[in-house]
Amino acid sequence: MDRTRLVREDDDEVEVMEQRTNWPPTLNRSLFGLSFLVVIASVLLLRFWPIWRPVQPKIWTVEELAYYNGTDDKLPILLGILGSVFDVTKRKTHYGPGGGYHHFAGRDASRAFVSGNFSGDGLTDSLQGLSGVEMNSVVGWRKLYFEKYIYVGKLVGRYYDKEGNPTKHLKGVEAKAKRAAQLQEKQKTEEAKTPSCNSKWSQQEGGEVWCDAGYPRLVQRPLETALSGEVRRRCACFREEELGRPGLEVYKGCDYLSKSCKV
Ligand SMILES: *[C@@H]1O[C@H](CO)[C@@H](O)[C@H](O)[C@H]1NC(C)=O
Ligand SMILES: *[C@@H]1O[C@H](CO)[C@@H](O)[C@H](O)[C@H]1NC(C)=O
Repeated sequence: MDRTRLVREDDDEVEVMEQRTNWPPTLNRSLFGLSFLVVIASVLLLRFWPIWRPVQPKIWTVEELAYYNGTDDKLPILLGILGSVFDVTKRKTHYGPGGGYHHFAGRDASRAFVSGNFSGDGLTDSLQGLSGVEMNSVVGWRKLYFEKYIYVGKLVGRYYDKEGNPTKHLKGVEAKAKRAAQLQEKQKTEEAKTPSCNSKWSQQEGGEVWCDAGYPRLVQRPLETALSGEVRRRCACFREEELGRPGLEVYKGCDYLSKSCKV
């Protein structure tokens, strides 16, 4: 479950539209008439069929939201993420019964956006114990829903109180997510200052890293290390005057001023 999958859904649509324009011209003309009728019919439907009117933003309870799980064709499909509720009816095939995202309908399953665990207790809104980077990923999903779907209010519970004010849980998640995003940004900026080594690997010769300018050194990636709980490193190229910096490690068996090292 990731963002590229959601993007791919859109790609499907683009493909379908392109195929249509390739049909023969006569067919195209009659299709035009047909499309016109469909548009008129849709406008009338939207205007006069009350259930298709958009839901006004409001404060939802968990029990209310559960009705909008997509099993009742006459109701819109809603989902919650970090206590924000969205109308996702326009993607009925994904969020309705049998769709790959159906688990999210009628509830707030924020955790499942990063855990991918859709079984039983996996469908929870609690992000307890997740890393800041994972929390930031959920915040990113929420942003995506704000951009692509209709916002229809707040869900009373973990993230909003009865008056619709954010709870300490929501503030906590947002703060941790923001901190992680800043750390990632900082590390990215830091790492951009030292180019990564070139590397190659072959069955016969094994691995090799080398620098076009500078000397290969192993350096820790503090963020990845903190997240995974094991030491993560990268190979970066340092200029001669930088080689005295703390934390730089020479590859085993490689000369201090060698531009390439076997690994
Ligand atoms: C799904 O929604 C229907 C009505 O829309 C409701 O009867 C049913 O109980 C809901 N299912 C769950 C698991 O809440
Ligand atoms: C999904 O979550 C439940 C409840 O937390 C847990 O018991 C189960 O092992 C998880 N499944 C996977 C595949 O992680």
